[in-house]
Amino acid sequence: MDFNHPQTNFILKPQDFGKDFVFGVSTAAYQIEGAHSVHDKGASIWDQFTSKKGNTFNNHHGQIACDFYNKFEEDILLMKSMNIKNFRFSLAWSRIIPNGIGDISQAGIDYYNKVIDFCSECGITPWVTLYHWDLPQALQDKGGWTNRDIVSWFENYVQVCATHFGDRIKNWMVLNEPMVFTGAGYFLGVHAPGYKGLKHFLPAIHHAVMCQAAGGRILRNLVSDAFIGTTFSCAQTTPFRDTPRDFIAAKKADALLNRLFIEPSLGLGYPTEEVPVLKRIEAYIKPDDLKNAAFEFDFIGVQNYTREMITHSYLVPYLQAKIVKASKRNVKTTLMDWEVYPPSIYNMIKQFSQYSGVKKMIITENGAAFTDNLINGTIEDVDRLHYLQSHLEQVYKAKKDGFDVEGYFVWTFTDNFEWAEGYHPRFGLVYTDFETQKRIIKASGKWYQSFLGYIKP
Ligand code: NOJ
Repeated sequence: MDFNHPQTNFILKPQDFGKDFVFGVSTAAYQIEGAHSVHDKGASIWDQFTSKKGNTFNNHHGQIACDFYNKFEEDILLMKSMNIKNFRFSLAWSRIIPNGIGDISQAGIDYYNKVIDFCSECGITPWVTLYHWDLPQALQDKGGWTNRDIVSWFENYVQVCATHFGDRIKNWMVLNEPMVFTGAGYFLGVHAPGYKGLKHFLPAIHHAVMCQAAGGRILRNLVSDAFIGTTFSCAQTTPFRDTPRDFIAAKKADALLNRLFIEPSLGLGYPTEEVPVLKRIEAYIKPDDLKNAAFEFDFIGVQNYTREMITHSYLVPYLQAKIVKASKRNVKTTLMDWEVYPPSIYNMIKQFSQYSGVKKMIITENGAAFTDNLINGTIEDVDRLHYLQSHLEQVYKAKKDGFDVEGYFVWTFTDNFEWAEGYHPRFGLVYTDFETQKRIIKASGKWYQSFLGYIKP
């Protein structure tokens, strides 16, 4: 199939990225699986959070989502038909260990075994994220990420996953975007579990940092030939005005958004100089913690969607810096009100490559939500198509400039549950009709299919 969208002049071919470069799609359990209470599955903090009115857009929840739990064969076959060879998904902790600790659910293990085995039948390599935000509610009842015991709960969970799936799963990511799940969930209160304030945020940060490294070590010990990473959200931070105050504000935002989690994992500690309030995290640090927070990851997962413009503000406690919303700046935006700014992905690859401890980078997420119009059974999502192509061009440029980036995963395969925003923003290459669960490949998906299927003449 040769699908060249008339509105683009993208000329890159997969081969241009080198023979080891991987292309794929990314998803997460709570956003696609549904089947929230089958068998003995335990509730997660997202089941709980979405059960309370007002927490998400129109009270949307992931009880059914894309029904991937029941439709995984169909979806993986669709992936195969789209020439997608790498599939990133996450394991739902409460499906595997319903109460977070204690009994293992055989039904949960069986389910993931089926998904993994079906991927391999289809010639698709699975990439697994251990934690993509759906903490077992039973553990939240004990304080969740604020309780230091989470390090041993998490170690136990990783051990269970590594022993059951490590024979077939070689590509692992320990955490997904720790800055987002601690910041949105334990500081701003806009994601599960809906906690606010530094007293929740600081311990959650430190315990996530400890889990990140502890999880890596367990995988290294239990899984032969494992390729181990963890993923970080990131966005280039640019001073809004050309003033010293905005310049300092942008540095602070950079420390918080882009450095807070990667630096301790590289043995560099927390960026307290730029964000002095972080010094209060010391209250949660025990001897040897900073040493144990470091782990030699084989790769880091870079997850970039936009850049942030930052300005000084006395009104923002602790930071004196704030984001100037894209909608106030007269720039092209996505439905999330994120500026479309492809050089941000290049600049973040460049920034992360400056750490000597970073070996390889994989873009584990990049994508965009735009309004999709279903007309006569087709979706001409030209904005998304352009977004993906222009970001891939930046990744290519980074590669050409010698930065060690070895993969690119589109967020996401099918439209799914976008957390607090519910089903409103659609990020998929494939359209989901949530009434009928029908899938329709969008123009962007057809383009990805033909790009990935390109065979050298
Ligand atoms: C980051 C998260 O990992 C994913 O769950 C989310 O849906 C996308 N970015 C888009 O916001």
